[in-house]
This record gives sequence, C-alpha cells and structure tokens, in this order.
Amino acid sequence: MCGIIGYIGNRQASPILLDGLRRLEYRGYDSAGMALQNGKDLQVLRRAGRIDNLALLVAEKKPQSHAGISHTRWATHGAPTDENAHPHRDQSGKLALVHNGVIENYQTLRDALKLDGHLFTSETDTEVLAHLVGKYYDESSDADPVQRLISAVQSALVRVKGTYGIAVIHTEAPEVMVGARLGSPLVVGLGEGEHFLASDVSAIVAHTKDVIYLNDYDVVTITKSGFDVKHLEGGIAKVLVSRVDFTEEDAEMGDFPHFMLKEIYEQPQSIQNALRGRLSRDEATAVLGGLQMSPQELRGIDRIILAGCGTAYHAAMVGEYLIETLARVPTEVEIASEFRYRNVPTDKNTLQFVVSQSGETIDTLAALREAKRKGIKVLGIVNNVASTIARETDGGIYIHAGPEIGVAATKSFTSQVAVMTLLSLLLGRIRNMSSTDGLELIEEMEAIPDKITAILKQADHIKEIANKYAHVEGMLFMGRQMNYPVAMEGALKMKEISYIYASGHPSAELKHGVIALVKPELPSVFIAPHDAVFEKNISNIEEVKARKGPVIAVATEGHPGIEKVADDVIYIPRCPSVLSPLLTVIPLQLLSYYVAVARGCDVDKPRNLAKSVTVE
Ligand code: M6R
Repeated sequence: MCGIIGYIGNRQASPILLDGLRRLEYRGYDSAGMALQNGKDLQVLRRAGRIDNLALLVAEKKPQSHAGISHTRWATHGAPTDENAHPHRDQSGKLALVHNGVIENYQTLRDALKLDGHLFTSETDTEVLAHLVGKYYDESSDADPVQRLISAVQSALVRVKGTYGIAVIHTEAPEVMVGARLGSPLVVGLGEGEHFLASDVSAIVAHTKDVIYLNDYDVVTITKSGFDVKHLEGGIAKVLVSRVDFTEEDAEMGDFPHFMLKEIYEQPQSIQNALRGRLSRDEATAVLGGLQMSPQELRGIDRIILAGCGTAYHAAMVGEYLIETLARVPTEVEIASEFRYRNVPTDKNTLQFVVSQSGETIDTLAALREAKRKGIKVLGIVNNVASTIARETDGGIYIHAGPEIGVAATKSFTSQVAVMTLLSLLLGRIRNMSSTDGLELIEEMEAIPDKITAILKQADHIKEIANKYAHVEGMLFMGRQMNYPVAMEGALKMKEISYIYASGHPSAELKHGVIALVKPELPSVFIAPHDAVFEKNISNIEEVKARKGPVIAVATEGHPGIEKVADDVIYIPRCPSVLSPLLTVIPLQLLSYYVAVARGCDVDKPRNLAKSVTVE
C-alpha cells in the first residue's frame, strides 16, 4: 500500500521519480507528490488524485534537481487531499519525508510536539514523523549534518509504534538520502554514480537490477556513489546484494489495454512456470525442494493449516479440498486476519502454510508470526521472492507467476492452486496414492496450460455475455465442492472491479436463504463442470429458472443438456474434477473484466483498493 521512490545521482530526478511512481501506482492512487533538493531549499510538489495530476504540476514547475523523494498514496489517516499528500515537511521546512505504513502512536507524539510549539498542516501520521525527525535534527549538537540526519532518524524511529518504510532528505545534507524500514518493504537500487530507494523493485528495474532488500530495523544512507546500512539501534546490519529476475517489460502492459487482461492471458505460461522442474514422471510425484522437509518429516504431519486473504484465501480453500482428497491429510483454511486473533489448537505435527501473492499482506504476515510464536512450522506459498513473508517463513513454494500489477489477482490464483496441487501430489504419494494415479495427475496437470488457451479463445463469446448483463444490480455465484471457492473468487472479482454487488455460495445453500434474492434482474452464475455433483447443480439451476432468475453456466464441453436450462453457457475442456478450478476460474475472470470495461470502470485501479494491503 502506497509507493515510494527516491533518487540521488547525476540525472534529472523528476522524470525518474514520475516514471517510478507510475510503475508503483497500483499500490495506491489517491494522491502523489515529490520533494526535490534544489541547492538552497526543498521544492515540494503534491497533488490529490492520480499521478497524471502530479505530472501536470511537474511540467508546469519544471524542477531542476538531481535528488528527490516521491510517493503515491493510499489514504490511511486523513482524506486524499493536496495537504495530506506526501512528502511532508518538518517544522523548519528543511526536511521532507515520505512514508508507507501506519504510526500507531501518532496522536500521542503529535500532542507532545504541539506542546513544543509544532504546527501541523495535515491530518496524517506521516507529518508527525517528519516533525519528530526534524526535532531531533534541530536539537542535535553534531557538527556534521549527515550524521545529525542519520541520528535524528534513529532517535525518532525508536519512539514510533507501528510500521514504516521511509525516505528522508534535508537541505543541509543534500548529498544524502536516508531510508528505514519496519514492516513495510524498502529496497536500495545500486547504479553507476546513482542510487535509488523504492518500496518495490518494479519502480527501479528500468535503471538497475542490483538491489538490496532491507530488513526490519535497517537504516540506510545512500549517496550518488555509495550506501551504508546500519541497525536502528546502532551496529552493523547484514547486507545482501540480489539480482532482480524480471525485466522492465514484464511489468508493462505491452499491447493489452489493461494489466488485468494481460495477466489473465499470461496464465498458460504462468502455470507452466509454476510446474517447471517440479514434476517427476519417474517417481510419479512432485519435487518441492523449497519445503526443506524430508519425506519422513512430511509423513509425520497430521494436520495442515492454510491461511491467506482475499484471492489467496480462496486459493487456500481449493487447497483444502486438494490436500484432503489427494493426500488425506486433515486441512483447515483460515482467513489470515482472523487466525491471528484466534487461539487455534495446534501441536508439533501441525504444518502451516501462508499464501500470499505479494508476500507483504500485513494480516497474513501477522498470522505467520502468530503461528511461529506458537512453535508451528510455517511455510510460504508466495510470488514475490524478496518479500517479508518469503523471508520470515521456514521454507515454502514460490509460485513464479511474475509481476502481477492489476489490483484484481488473476494469475496468482491459478499459480497458487497449481502449487497446492503439486503439494497434494507429493503428500499423497508418500501416503496412499498409487504411482498410476500420480502419473495420471501429472499428465493432466501438464495439459492444463493448453486447455486454458482454449478457454481464452472464447473471449469474444464471454464479452457478449458480459455486455448482456453489464448493468444488473447484483450477481450470485454458485459452485460445489472445489468450485465453491471458485464461486467466491468469481464474486470477489466481479465486486472489486465492476462495483456490482456479488456473493459466492455453495449451490446447495441456495434453498437455505439465498434463493429469496432471485429475480429477473439478478443473474446467477453456476460453475457446473461435469463432476459428481453435476446433476445436483442442474437441479439448483432449475430452481433458479423456476423463479425467473437468468443463469450463466460454466460447464464441461461434450456434455450436452445444460444449454437447455441455462440462458448462457461457457464451456471448458474436460479435466479431472480436482483440476477443474484451474479452468473454471478463467471464464469468471474474463466475465468480470468485460463487465467492468462495459461499465466504464478503471479495471486496474478499482476505487478504494490497492494491490498489497500493508495496514491492518
Ligand atoms: O498479496 P496477497 O495475495 O497477500 O493479497 C491478498 C489480497 O489482498 C488480494 O488477493 C486481494 O483480495 C485482491 N485484490 C483480490 O483480487
């Protein structure tokens, strides 16, 4: 949530900052700003609204500077106005600071600063932090402004309760920029005669692929020619230079009108990437070295907990069905934000997985930490390799989906489900699954990418259906067994990008209450592939039709009959029922996409949302 980029070097800073902000805009998009060193004072430019508004201001002011910090905001404290936009200045006006995260004790700090005569111009917690750092800077007797600034940042941050990723500049120390992190990501980009600070590598990958992912409690100082990382309370910090494994183009839209559509179309490839090198035909099993657990250890597991939020939670729900069906290990799924505050009974044979595309979702991170506190082994199913969750887990399975920029998660869902299928195969094969069944599953998994390609070819048909229903007031999504989570995922996609109220239910629950909503203006989407509950789904469809509710069905090709009861049908290729969520979700992603486009919604940046949710 929110994005930061800072630059110090020989080039003009403002174009680099603007380009970086555009690449980070998916993290927050209600206001943006930058502060630039111009030799004597700071030039601070801020605007409510999208980056384009800030770009107009930059074009008008034409700032000349080789060092600056910038920010795109997702509001936590205070409305999205020019005044609340970052960067914020201290009392002297000589220091500027950008911040991701939440300062929980900001009110106490603000009251204390006010008693000292500080005046605030915004409602934000960030301005309080800027004033606090400025106060320590002004009170310091150190003759060296660089040392003063570093010490002031350290002194302020030890008083802070909450989370932060920050970048700070001061007119009296124009040759440096100071950054720090606790619970909110910050990365240093290493260039030739230039350095960067960013909350996400996608902001700087156009300029450098050599980066340092900072750890919690790191305080970094960058100059044109170097960097220095210290621990918040003094002493040396561990520094590891990493190479970014994706290109600038991977995080761009190419010929697609939206990131979401690009990412939907990437799924044949992203699933192949999730499977690559992980299927052993010889042993008829999956090879998952990242788990760092021997077959004996895995055999000792008698209970699995899967935790995640949003789409990752829905993928985990599919995972529960997969693990229990294929490996017969009792599995529970927890919404990460609830798990954290529950007292879930566990024992030494419990294994927990946290599922997260970004690896930064604070609720999922908190669930991970809570589980570890209780001595549970926690593994990750994560996309972002350098993320906090990836680093704090005891191992795991990367999904290798590549950058996902659209706020609506698409390819991460199918990749998460794909790796949970691998996990189930592995656990099944060391328990009671035969090699014949294992091999059959492997062959079916390898066929999934081509089957997704076949579904994508029906995009025009799905678009027609979307246009037909684009102006309804609500939608119901129904599915059973493994496709119940897909119904929930379909409803989430519809809600978040088209603003149509939608809810997902097990089909059989219809008659326990939901059917009261059915009417001609409220279509129901039934996920009804040809499986053991197909006939039951047909009965539920009949019940809706009897009450004049329109029905869109997702069904398996080669099984005629459903078109007689449903108004519109989208066919998926045949596949084993355990793999069907990998196919049935694709038409739902396209349906919500085309409905949102037809309604004129901002598909990649839905209102009130941000890509990774780093506040509780
Ligand atoms: O990065 P994560 O997978 O941890 O994110 C979890 C949710 O915030 C995310 O799936 C969210 O629900 C998406 N906007 C859904 O499309």
